[in-house]
Amino acid sequence: MKTIQIINGPNLNLLGVREPEIYGNQTFEDFFEELKKKYPNVSLQYFQSNHEGDIIDKLHEVGFEYDGIVLNAAAYTHYSYAIADAIKAIKTAVVEVHISDIYAREDFRKISITGESCKKIISGKGLPGYELAIDEFL
Ligand code: DQA
Repeated sequence: MKTIQIINGPNLNLLGVREPEIYGNQTFEDFFEELKKKYPNVSLQYFQSNHEGDIIDKLHEVGFEYDGIVLNAAAYTHYSYAIADAIKAIKTAVVEVHISDIYAREDFRKISITGESCKKIISGKGLPGYELAIDEFL
């Protein structure tokens, strides 16, 4: 059985409440329950933090052992060289996900610093983007 870690960054704990016209009405916890039912043969793990160092610690913790990492670093995507370096430092491949289309929004969102170290970037597919990312590892 493959083990895949989902990591969500800042403000994604407010999905369902936060700017629903951009990010939708569903909480991630609710979506994660659906995801686990959809992938009964995958060990899916979920972690969310609003803190850069916690995200880096989680990448280090699972990044030499797990089969895949799905990362939505949220706003850190656009400026965290520390997270980008952590992705380069680990062995497990990372697929980056964005719920909204970062290329169709403000200019500062069009640049992904973390994505340069990732296997792939999936952007603008809504929450199903996480499924596409999981499928990359199966
Ligand atoms: C996001 C896009 C980022 O620009 C933003 O800061 C987020 C969420 C997305 O999933 O669309 O917090 O990563």
